[in-house]
Amino acid sequence: MPDAPVIVALDGPAASGKGTLGRRLASHFGYAYLDSGLLYRAVGWRMLREGKDPEDAAAAAIIAAELGENDLKSAELREDRVANAATIVAAHPDVRQALVGYQRGFAAKPPQGAPGAVIDGRDIGTVICPDADCKIFVDASVEVRAMRRLKELQDRGVESIYPRVLRDMEERDARDRNRPVAPLIPADDAFKLDTTDLDADAAFELAAAFIAARNKPDKS
Ligand code: CDP
Repeated sequence: MPDAPVIVALDGPAASGKGTLGRRLASHFGYAYLDSGLLYRAVGWRMLREGKDPEDAAAAAIIAAELGENDLKSAELREDRVANAATIVAAHPDVRQALVGYQRGFAAKPPQGAPGAVIDGRDIGTVICPDADCKIFVDASVEVRAMRRLKELQDRGVESIYPRVLRDMEERDARDRNRPVAPLIPADDAFKLDTTDLDADAAFELAAAFIAARNKPDKS
């Protein structure tokens, strides 16, 4: 019987570098990659598009339950207004519950028969896959994360200013950390990777070494 897929749970706040790191780790180890934030963004985006208030838990839960692959493709998902709606819908327990099955299914059976999955999110190591083989909690100071987000926006040609990006980031952090359901906290057994003073290469080296050490076969 083939071994169970290796699960890498990669959690952390906005702009901590999880996305870049997760894609690179997945490609390095030949694992599938899931950006679970896209699921919440997709629910938030459909709520906005359909003129619904993201605070409406019942409507958001219906959308979450109906979500399909096509909802994950739209370019608007990256917009900041969608990120804000995502943090609001992500606090509704029924929305989170509706998205559990998809995420656990991805971990149990990664697409294309990949031998593992890297799942990036907020609660992967604590709620979605508490038995994950490798848990990494990526963080950085809010000022550094706001600078990274500002640069990302500017690279995309979106006009923004630092104080505004910083304020949005602080608000979103507070919502993610303080919600009663699946708050953003590191799992007790997570490797904590602070990227405040690390560039993307250095963060990748540390995370890859951690995963390789955890997955060393017991016998050779
Ligand atoms: O890209 P960024 O880190 O800014 O955000 P994201 O990962 O796309 O997630 C958008 C929002 O979805 C977050 O601020 C969380 O409120 C929510 N989310 C969540 O609650 N649980 C997850 N596993 C992933 C995202």
